[in-house]
Amino acid sequence: MRFDVLTIFPNMIKTIMSESILGRAQDNGFISINPVNIREYSKNKHKKVDDYPYGGGNGMVMTAEPIYNAYINITEKLDYKPKVIYLTPQGKTLTQKLVENFIEDQHIILLCGHYEGVDERVLEEIVDEEISMGDYVLTGGELPAMVFIDCLSRLIPGVLSNEESHIEESFYNGLLEYPQYTRPNEVFGRDVPEVLLSGHHLNIEKWRKEQSIKRTKLKRPDLYEKYISKNKL
Ligand SMILES: C[S@@+](CC[C@H](N)C(=O)[O-])C[C@H]1O[C@@H](n2cnc3c(N)ncnc32)[C@H](O)[C@@H]1O
Repeated sequence: MRFDVLTIFPNMIKTIMSESILGRAQDNGFISINPVNIREYSKNKHKKVDDYPYGGGNGMVMTAEPIYNAYINITEKLDYKPKVIYLTPQGKTLTQKLVENFIEDQHIILLCGHYEGVDERVLEEIVDEEISMGDYVLTGGELPAMVFIDCLSRLIPGVLSNEESHIEESFYNGLLEYPQYTRPNEVFGRDVPEVLLSGHHLNIEKWRKEQSIKRTKLKRPDLYEKYISKNKL
């Protein structure tokens, strides 16, 4: 899967995305993440990418033209239209379920806003979907874009090794994941639950399922209610 990230801070993307599992996924060719510096597409002699808002008000607004030029530079060479996502607090809130809708996309362009946001007209012209990280306001779309890429990339076969598989993780089956333990089998006077040392796979599976349900009920009653009604329990 290819991600192009339209941003005025390409180094943020480059630095963070080259680490850890996503860095390895890029090295191994499962994904490619290309930061595109919007500033390079400004025709202004000072490479300006923002201006005052019409109607007055605080702050600056990102201008339409450099964003559109960056988009055209990517898409004019293609014989298909990649999906364009604008990261904005006004979009649909990102959930595990929402991200699964994008697994078939081969190429996604992510637009990161800054300042007071982006001239509405370029959004109308190029954007297919708007996605939010939640009901709070961040300084820019770069962190949201990276959260989106991380969350989607983990679903791509090969990105996670078998040991890192996502299928038992929180939200996959509508529940939070069971508690995890590693060596040593005693810390701070607390032991690992006996069943996990038993080697009895069926009992371990049963215990994990029970724990999963118990902690979902405790920590996320909203998810628990959905799970109960969906599974008619
Ligand atoms: C300061 S925000 C602008 C917020 C905008 N004035 C509004 O009230 O809707 C600057 C940029 O950060 C990004 N951003 C901020 N909060 C976000 C969130 N919760 N989810 C996704 N992107 C966000 C967007 O790309 C936005 O254009």
